[in-house]
Amino acid sequence: MDSRDSKEGTEGAASALGRPWRAPHDHSGPVFVSGRGSWLVDSGGHRVIDATSGALNVLCGHGVEPVLDAYLSQLRELAHIDMSQGLARPAHLLADRLRAARRRDGERFFFANSGSEAVELAVKIASLYWAAAGPAAGSRRQDIVTFERGYHGSTALCQSLSGLPQTSSTPDRCGAGVHHLTFGEFTGEGLRSQQARRHIAGQLRAILADSHAGTVLVEPLLNVGGGIRLPEGLLGDIRRICDEYGALLVLDEVFTGLGRTGAWFAHEHEGVRPDLTAFSKGLTNGVCALSAVAVDNGVLERLPSGSIVSYGHTMSASPAACAAASATLEHMRATGAVAEARDIGARLLSVLGRELRGADGVLDVRGQGLAVSVELDSADTAGNVQQTVYDLGAYTRQQGGTVMLAPPACLSSGEEERLVDHVVTAVRKSGQRKVRNRR
Ligand SMILES: Cc1ncc(COP(=O)(O)O)c(C=O)c1O
Repeated sequence: MDSRDSKEGTEGAASALGRPWRAPHDHSGPVFVSGRGSWLVDSGGHRVIDATSGALNVLCGHGVEPVLDAYLSQLRELAHIDMSQGLARPAHLLADRLRAARRRDGERFFFANSGSEAVELAVKIASLYWAAAGPAAGSRRQDIVTFERGYHGSTALCQSLSGLPQTSSTPDRCGAGVHHLTFGEFTGEGLRSQQARRHIAGQLRAILADSHAGTVLVEPLLNVGGGIRLPEGLLGDIRRICDEYGALLVLDEVFTGLGRTGAWFAHEHEGVRPDLTAFSKGLTNGVCALSAVAVDNGVLERLPSGSIVSYGHTMSASPAACAAASATLEHMRATGAVAEARDIGARLLSVLGRELRGADGVLDVRGQGLAVSVELDSADTAGNVQQTVYDLGAYTRQQGGTVMLAPPACLSSGEEERLVDHVVTAVRKSGQRKVRNRR
């Protein structure tokens, strides 16, 4: 086959490329050719502020030299080793640094590649924990509780943990029963109300009392489910209820982990101590794939001695990926990225809230750190707003009826002003169109 045929690299429907989460021939959307700092450039030469941070994983901005240098020099030194057979120093170093960042003694870190794999690994360890409790107790406690609107990844098991419409065609592959927490009648601002908090805490208590489910898996901020920040205090309630019923609390911090919400991990905002934490985005600043699960010693000590965590991938804990992650942690510390995420995010939320709450077509403005969502009255409205924002010069992330702003922490004050301005202009324009159409 001559690979240098004239169609090589073709864009559009004739391309050989199949895309994630799209119809196989759907090649709509911009083609990007370069990224630096907070900016992306598309193939037409149009420059936009990247308010998506890649796939929410480029927290420090594109092209961070110390991270690239660390990755490339480890690639040259020793790109890979099979960690199930031998060891390499970059993984040890990264585990120690993560332990220091979490300020928690007695945690151990297991590495995988994607967020989905980290969640599966966490579920697997929870399942081993319950199996170790003995056949009678263990089999009763294998059930898992998740949010119906939670998203935990795209492997068959992870999709089967979610109740989102995108995952509903996935066959039920989770060996255990899955019980869903719902927001019930709460919508818009109500999603983060204290009434919603009581509603969800009550459901969790009822599920744990009736089903003996042993694992509760929660995102502190529901990403794909609509950028929903849990009601204040709820994560603490969930921890207390898990303790009451002896259930494990597994946090899916794949998206929130490493700085996104203005803390290294989102659970720090509520002083909650999870039993297991899966995280990934932000670990290598988008340079390569890496994910991790932090496991509390209390969990590991309950496993029978010598028991094996039968999980791993060819590229698990790759030295080059671990070197990139250690350099990312160092860069985040040196630039104060976590505090920047907190402060920039607080300003974005405050200004967008003031300008847009109550505007035509806007149901809510919510968020935490650099994950600010504007919920609009339909997916069509969100699509129109997203397109106008793009034309004006910023790239946002659409999830159903919600437009999310998740820029990197290196956003300058000028870029911040532009981003806000573009979003406010686009939402107002869309509102004016609606008013005209109603007349
Ligand atoms: C909360 C959450 N969990 C899991 C995942 C899956 O991660 P990955 O796409 O790396 O498999 C995502 C990805 O968006 C996520 O946001």
